[in-house]
Amino acid sequence: MTRLVHLSDLHFGYERESLIYPLLDRVNRANADLVVVTGDLTHRGRSAQFAQAAAFLRQIEAPLIAVPGNHDIPLYKLADRMTKPYKRYKRAIAQNMEPVGHVGNLRVQGVNSVDPMAWQRGVLTSTQMRRVVDGIEPKCVNIVAMHHPMQQRPEIDKALMRGAPEALALFELQGIQVVLTGHLHIWSVGAFLGPEGRGILQIQGGTALCAREDDLQNEFAVLDFDGPDLRIERHVAPMNESGFRDPEILKFTRIDRRWQPDGQS
Ligand SMILES: [Fe+2]
Ligand SMILES: [Fe+2]
Repeated sequence: MTRLVHLSDLHFGYERESLIYPLLDRVNRANADLVVVTGDLTHRGRSAQFAQAAAFLRQIEAPLIAVPGNHDIPLYKLADRMTKPYKRYKRAIAQNMEPVGHVGNLRVQGVNSVDPMAWQRGVLTSTQMRRVVDGIEPKCVNIVAMHHPMQQRPEIDKALMRGAPEALALFELQGIQVVLTGHLHIWSVGAFLGPEGRGILQIQGGTALCAREDDLQNEFAVLDFDGPDLRIERHVAPMNESGFRDPEILKFTRIDRRWQPDGQS
């Protein structure tokens, strides 16, 4: 069994301060093989916010990889966004914005889906798609981690990332099994598993720490990969409660290159 912790949308600078240590405690107690952070580490990409985010990440005991989100580049300073969008991210978090995590039989490929030209929407270029495909290791469970979702429910009013449909079709064909995303501050897993199944399970994390009341809750997930089985612990901390509840458990099984929610054939 290999364990990942998936964190997304920390939004330091607009964080729920009272939840920082409960979150750290839960993450460290999970004793994960790898922690994956899918972007929006900060709220406005400011140096002080990156310093807070970096201090938080340093207290996580497990190995960790992270990718940027759209909130990690300047929003209002257009010249900075166009000429040096990742300067602060690179200085505080990591030079490599597309890191690879390799633990057990899992290979996690980080992808930077941020588009400085289209702050909200994001993009996956053909070069990035090719890099993901070239990195696939047939003997591994191949996972992609990025900020922007590859699929969205119809009620979502934000535009889907450019390149997402093409990338999804390509990744599915080539054997990517799981995509970890964030950005929408809405948890969604298995929403796109139709009757014919899908080869890719998108695990769209909610926000782990953003204080925005409209998000209703903070949350993160613990993912246990064991052969064809995936067990997900969803740890939720409603905004009007003092901390995390006992986790909810979801299970999926991979049969004939397709994911199935447990209990369904
Ligand atoms: Fe966010
Ligand atoms: Fe975002």
